[in-house]
Amino acid sequence: MSPGDSIMVKGQITGSPESFAVNLRISNSQDIALHLNPRFKTGSFIRNSFLSGCWGAEETSLPSFPFSPGQYFEMIILCEAQDFKVAVNGLHQLSYKHRVQDLSCVDVIEIVGDVELKDVKIW
Ligand code: GAL
Repeated sequence: MSPGDSIMVKGQITGSPESFAVNLRISNSQDIALHLNPRFKTGSFIRNSFLSGCWGAEETSLPSFPFSPGQYFEMIILCEAQDFKVAVNGLHQLSYKHRVQDLSCVDVIEIVGDVELKDVKIW
């Protein structure tokens, strides 16, 4: 990734979801630069990084939980110089200050959990 890049993820959440995650990873390593993790039981949208074998501090603040069971969604992740900006269904949700400084290493997107993936685009 580099500043100016955008990723769009389109998906359909399953009927009785627990959680899903969108991870921006560094290949050939365990590191996750950005872990976006909506959790339905608690209605929380956890953000974190997994670096050098450890999870860091979770970021949790949010205007309101933007996902619902069974619902289609579009998520856009915009990579800017200082942070990632995340929008869901056209509404800005959060900023996540970069914890990985060399963004060019961030080269894998992984989507796991209770979601049926419809489309992913990177531009
Ligand atoms: C852990 C969970 C991980 C990840 C992490 C984020 O409790 O097992 O999958 O979501 O929190 O901080």
